Amino acid sequence: MTTTTTIDPEAPLGRLVGDHPEFAAVFESLGIDYCCGGDTSLRRACEENDLELDAVLERLATIDSTDEVAPAEASITELVDDIVETHHDYLRAELPSLERVVRKVARVHSDAHPELEAIEATFLELQEEVTHHIADEEETVFPELRTLANGASLTAPEKRRIREAIDHLESEHDAAAARLEEIRTLSDGYAVPSEACTSYRNMLDRLELLEEDMHRHVHKENNVLFPKAERALEDW
Ligand SMILES: [Fe+2]
Ligand SMILES: [Fe+2]
Repeated sequence: MTTTTTIDPEAPLGRLVGDHPEFAAVFESLGIDYCCGGDTSLRRACEENDLELDAVLERLATIDSTDEVAPAEASITELVDDIVETHHDYLRAELPSLERVVRKVARVHSDAHPELEAIEATFLELQEEVTHHIADEEETVFPELRTLANGASLTAPEKRRIREAIDHLESEHDAAAARLEEIRTLSDGYAVPSEACTSYRNMLDRLELLEEDMHRHVHKENNVLFPKAERALEDW
């Protein structure tokens, strides 16, 4: 099946990916930030990244759409379940395992590649912050959003607390994005040195996958779940 929808270049990236989850891979490959930069229009993002808008539109119009339900159509409860099962569970399994590889590669290869020590330090900071962040979401904000979705009426202070918690989570998303950007820069875009051993390659591949997954994850929260929660808060 091919996407036949006319794509509005003035639409914000977050909404485009919300309506067409399959666009995420294209934006990812072009280096377009659609998660924390989800409010930016496609036209502006193309300008900022020196990309031909028409070429990007053409590429988006011809990719196959998936059969999955666009997150934009999912309910708050479905979104929260999907985020926990798809992204939080992945992070819980991946981060400790990737940590071992990052530490090992830095220990063995930092003489020849001094940037590996900075990659290790940045990764460890990211790991600690993200681990804390997802636990915080699951213990406080997500249960409150489930309550909201179930139609419970909330007091004004409760609503204010949820809004403040969402703002805080969004600022942590920006911080995580900055750390991932730093790792990308330090590794020269995950470039594999010619003499790299299997562990070194494996580390770079997995760091890149981590970045990709974080972009999808943050997109679902910033551009789909939180705006939906905001609308639900306004309705009560
Ligand atoms: Fe999350
Ligand atoms: Fe988050």
